[in-house]
Amino acid sequence: MSIDAFATAETQDLLRAACNLDGQNGNPRFKQIFHRVLSDLFKAIDDLDITPEEVWTGINYLNRLGRDGEAALLAAGIGLERYLDICMDTADRKAGIQGGTPRTIEGPLYVAGAPVRDRVARIDIDPDPDADPLVIHGIVTGVDGKPVAGAVVECWHANSKGFYSHFDPTGEQSPFNLRGAVRTGADGKYELHTLMPVGYGCPPQGATQQLLDLLARHGNRPAHVHFFVSSDHHRKLTTQFNIAGDPLIWDDFAYATREELIAGVTAKTGGIALGLKADNYRDIEFNFELTPLVQGKDNQIVNRLRAVARA
Ligand code: DHB
Ligand code: FE
Repeated sequence: MSIDAFATAETQDLLRAACNLDGQNGNPRFKQIFHRVLSDLFKAIDDLDITPEEVWTGINYLNRLGRDGEAALLAAGIGLERYLDICMDTADRKAGIQGGTPRTIEGPLYVAGAPVRDRVARIDIDPDPDADPLVIHGIVTGVDGKPVAGAVVECWHANSKGFYSHFDPTGEQSPFNLRGAVRTGADGKYELHTLMPVGYGCPPQGATQQLLDLLARHGNRPAHVHFFVSSDHHRKLTTQFNIAGDPLIWDDFAYATREELIAGVTAKTGGIALGLKADNYRDIEFNFELTPLVQGKDNQIVNRLRAVARA
């Protein structure tokens, strides 16, 4: 039962005034977007009879979300980040762009500034007795299947507790532990020596989990590894693989799993010869296929606020 307050001239005038639509100054794009979003909120209050108590609960929640620094975590958890991928996928399809490793969400935990090595990088710095050694390797190609030389594969993932360096609540990890980058040689190959991650869970006492609790949803992800793959002649790829066999593979709270992004793990020996901490190690082969620039431009670069640190 709506009280029909939204469509009144009084409300519509208020929305125009609040967004300064009739003023000359301000950012026109922001005015347009904010007017639409604020109008949608006002309309929802009317349509759903959202009470003042409910509105103030929501406003106080925003304060809490900011205090916890979790807005980007929430964006992943409510499917907003996944939706941006769906939009980019749809735009690619409409533009006739085919092939390439599928994109999937970046998540909130990337840190710029990891060291870049040639062809092979060891990225585990801290000992982690609960994690087996892991070698991740593969080839970067174009959609034509030809190797891409000089591509940079950036990688970041969690430790055996599900924590990322720079964001670890225990404060125990060195900067850039389990983060690194490799530049491919002429054969397009890359190789990362690291340790097996486990799935991430959002902070149990945080604002994101508080909202998920009201939806009766968990805040966990399957074990996964993030990548940016960049090359001067291709579009930058933002992706991850999720590790086969994890029970949450199709129950990821951030909706990042995609059929083509499930990586199988092989048990191998010979780790000592490779400089790993044990002879038995896990191996994941994961190849990246990059799509060409569009009219000479990378139209899928996403600029967002990201942490930067020095290695
Ligand atoms: C979140 C955490 C991740 O490790 C990730 O990959 C995506 C999202 C999050 O807390 O929202
Ligand atoms: Fe992650």
